[in-house]
Amino acid sequence: MLIPDSPPPLSPAEAAHSERVAEHLRTLIKAAGGWLPFSRFMDAALYAPGLGYYMAGQARFGASGDFVTAPEMSPLFARCIATQVAELLERAGGGDVVEYGAGSGALAIGLLQALARTDALPRRYRIVEISAPLRAAQRERIARHPELMNRVEWLDGPPAEAWQGVALANEVLDALPVDRFRAGRDGCEAIGVVAAGREFDWQTRPADATLTNAIASLRVSLPDGYVSELRPMLPAWIAAATSTIAKGALLLSDYGLPRTHYYHATRDGGSLCGFYRHRRVDDVFARPGLQDLTAWVDFSAVANAATACGLEVAGFATQAHFLASLGIDREIAAALDGADTRESMSLRQGASMLMLPGEMGERFKVMALTRGIERTLSGFSFRDLSMSL
Ligand SMILES: C[S@@+](CC[C@H](N)C(=O)[O-])C[C@H]1O[C@@H](n2cnc3c(N)ncnc32)[C@H](O)[C@@H]1O
Repeated sequence: MLIPDSPPPLSPAEAAHSERVAEHLRTLIKAAGGWLPFSRFMDAALYAPGLGYYMAGQARFGASGDFVTAPEMSPLFARCIATQVAELLERAGGGDVVEYGAGSGALAIGLLQALARTDALPRRYRIVEISAPLRAAQRERIARHPELMNRVEWLDGPPAEAWQGVALANEVLDALPVDRFRAGRDGCEAIGVVAAGREFDWQTRPADATLTNAIASLRVSLPDGYVSELRPMLPAWIAAATSTIAKGALLLSDYGLPRTHYYHATRDGGSLCGFYRHRRVDDVFARPGLQDLTAWVDFSAVANAATACGLEVAGFATQAHFLASLGIDREIAAALDGADTRESMSLRQGASMLMLPGEMGERFKVMALTRGIERTLSGFSFRDLSMSL
């Protein structure tokens, strides 16, 4: 995709909305005594009701939006995931699929269509989506497939009762707020946000006991002055998403690394950034409420949180290895059969984006966390990197 040098200017309505979000953030900073941990800034910029990027209809998926996720990139993604989901559903003895953060609804549709073709539909397809505008968009898009709609329902949070089946979250963990810190020989510092007139700026403070302990429990040796992030809400999110899974799995895909790579000396500065109209933006304070904020996922933290909840890490692989293990080559061949020139080109381009190391193939990882499921899963048969966690 060709991207012009600079994004289009904000419309008056966008500028007014962003100013309302900025005002809300300034109010939060003031109420907190003038300094806000970055996780609270990010949480509000993304999720403040009626204001945040995901909560006010600003989140735009796909080619005309801010970013393209794998299910938007190519139908092949959902078809491969369907093979893994079908296997897991069979091993769980049937059950539901629960998708967290379903975005535009593309994965839900692709997955249900693929599972229908192999007669492996789940009992229900339940979507846990915290964003009302995205819920409405998902409902509208899925309703265009009436044969799927009767299986789909929306939940306000993780299922409260015990259930079996497969939970999925594609690019959800990277959207959970992070805190920033600076490691130091004489103690660590929290890097938080202050108001500087109508702008925002960074300011450091000595880390409190919670942050100090969280950094210590990473058990990595960090150079003096090293700046990075950690995700304080991650263990609670994993616990909430998995506590009622009696038998089944949580499949996670996202950009991320095992901890030793995540906190490698060469990654000083961390991975926090914004996304706006397909541009990676270093200034995370720009356009509050209009740009996505994200940071890579420490998959060792995910594995630790999962094992603390009694789950097993049943596999960890690059997206390329995962999709290859699940037969993306067969899916490509089947999709190309009968496709016209335009469709063939789009399929080939989509497959390259999913698989190439410089695109999504290596940056993105897939992790399976299971309870009560026989361990060896097809998606990790080519390569399982669990030992690197
Ligand atoms: C980057 S988007 C990914 C969307 C979609 N999974 C995809 O791959 O296209 C992040 C999604 O996670 C949702 N989300 C963020 N925090 C969440 C949470 N705690 N529970 C459920 N969904 C959440 C957002 O509303 C949004 O739908």
